Amino acid sequence: MAEIADIEALRQRVRERPLPRHVAIIMDGNGRWAEARGLPRVAGHREGSLSVRAVTREARKLGLDALTLYALSVQNLARPPEEVKALMELLAEFLDSERAEILDNDIRLEAIGDLDRLPGFVRQRLDAVRAASAGNRGMVLTLALSYDGREELVQAARRAAGKHGPAGIDAAALAGELWTAGLPELDLLVRTSGERRISNFLLWQCAYAELCFVDTLWPDFRERELLLALCDYQGRERRFGLTGAQVQRAPRE
Ligand code: FPP
Repeated sequence: MAEIADIEALRQRVRERPLPRHVAIIMDGNGRWAEARGLPRVAGHREGSLSVRAVTREARKLGLDALTLYALSVQNLARPPEEVKALMELLAEFLDSERAEILDNDIRLEAIGDLDRLPGFVRQRLDAVRAASAGNRGMVLTLALSYDGREELVQAARRAAGKHGPAGIDAAALAGELWTAGLPELDLLVRTSGERRISNFLLWQCAYAELCFVDTLWPDFRERELLLALCDYQGRERRFGLTGAQVQRAPRE
């Protein structure tokens, strides 16, 4: 009960101040969570998928416009085949079990990365939920799957050069070709598990994002931890290269 009251007080506090529009999370520490309990790594991923559900719900409840979750990098696909298989099965399970919640809560599901590398049973479910939720406007939940930030930039540069010619590429033209085109600017990037790296995630989009590194392992990162990260964000002054005095005179929306 004390825990619930604590979360409600935190939520209230977060609601009173400007929220980030777009939050991204590097969900790290599933393996360590499982190993600390003498469990197989897959148990950590399974528990981590419950955090995905809890954090998505909370983000929607608060009214964030976009939540982007780093679920799988291209490099993760080189893990032992049984771990990759289990991750794919968990993704498929997640898409089945969360489909109704996504649709009922006006969430649009998106996916970024080299989706052709996903097995058919994941791809089909992903495409089905994306199509069914395409008209939703409440929040965009983007799963980065088989994602590689440098590759995203390479492909965007190629497409922009094809459209505008190399000399015609500017920042807006390149941003318009990223997999995240159409999403709000990234405001906050959170990484769990105590690591302080970006690990090839949203390289371009991080330009002015606030970075928040927390020690909590992803399976333990739930509503309360998201709210604490948002409190941390709300306590920062975002200057975008200006002076503090300038920003205070003309705060950005
Ligand atoms: C990083 O922890 C996590 C991953 C590579 C997979 C993330 C997957 C999930 C959270 C569950 C499935 C996803 C969805 C969207 C339902 P790690 O295994 O690298 O942890 P470690 O650094 O402790 O080994």
